Amino acid sequence: MLGIETSCDETGVGLVRGRHHLLAEALASSVEEHARFGGVVPEVASRAHLEAMLPMLELACTKARVRLDDVDAVAVTSGPGLAGALLVGVAAAKALTVGLGKPLYGVNHLAAHVAVDQLEHGPLPEPTIALLVSGGHSSLLLVEDVTAAVTPLGATIDDAAGEAFDKVARVLGLPFPGGPHIDREARSGDPAYVDFPRGLTGPRDLAGHRYDFSFSGLKTAVARWVETRERAGEPVPVPDVAAAFQEAVVDVLTRKAVLACTERGVDHLLIGGGVAANSRLRAVAAQRCADAGLTLRVPRPALCTDNGAMVAALGAELVSRGAAASPLDLPADSALPVTEVVAR
Ligand code: KG4
Ligand code: ZN
Repeated sequence: MLGIETSCDETGVGLVRGRHHLLAEALASSVEEHARFGGVVPEVASRAHLEAMLPMLELACTKARVRLDDVDAVAVTSGPGLAGALLVGVAAAKALTVGLGKPLYGVNHLAAHVAVDQLEHGPLPEPTIALLVSGGHSSLLLVEDVTAAVTPLGATIDDAAGEAFDKVARVLGLPFPGGPHIDREARSGDPAYVDFPRGLTGPRDLAGHRYDFSFSGLKTAVARWVETRERAGEPVPVPDVAAAFQEAVVDVLTRKAVLACTERGVDHLLIGGGVAANSRLRAVAAQRCADAGLTLRVPRPALCTDNGAMVAALGAELVSRGAAASPLDLPADSALPVTEVVAR
């Protein structure tokens, strides 16, 4: 199974043999081209995908020692994501499947973030609750069948978790993307230095937004705190602010994820997406899952961020469960709902 991912700023190609065996992957990122804008510029990302697509296909095949002729099926991220960026991957996948005469699976990016864990930890227990946190999404999902039954329980009502990391990093003068820099700074900081707000955790919020997230108030609170310090001519302790901000995000994410598991009677939690690389999130999630008697699965960081292997992993799972392929006119759908695992 050849998997192609181009929903944001990573051009990923992955090759999976059977259901779980990752043969090789190749990844090109345009992240540096976006750095000076402080966020991903869609048109820049699309052009970068166009330039990287053939080299990444070649690199993945070379690493796996396979030829394109050896590929039995192609999977591609059909959505959600940036429309122009998705289009490059979908067009490439269609061309490949026509040229090779093989079936095409247009897949949901979020379900692929869940399926990728199988490459590392083997068959996914179902049902599983999945917490997906990245620069573009923050969702809690009930996964009863990763190929056919994925139900959204909650999502962010404003910024994505990764977006909050990126924006707070900017306030603290750290480079883009900010997540890894905040993670690093926070290691020497005091998470209790400032008690930043935990969005949507009050009793009234929990009634209406039980499994939803909100990070925009937190981001503003950090910005105000820093501003006040700077206006007073006082130094800003970056590690402490980073640690306190990170603690607020991690506290809410893990609290709600564990709540979803216990209330739904699901004893497995999976965390994916770029923010799943966060060391504090991993540590707190491990602790809280252990306390609640839950099994936690988190893929290694390189499989958490966007990549081609995750798409191949979901494609392989679809084939193994006998799912029908997508039509050749399948769309690049920037708003593909998470309930649609395969684009039709
Ligand atoms: O999944 P991803 O590669 O791309 C999408 O956004 O879909 O996630 C990128 C996001 C960025 O916002 C980045 O700051 C965040 O993941 N991130 C982290 C860490 N590593 C990456 N956030 C917190 N801690 C990290 N160690
Ligand atoms: Zn993603």
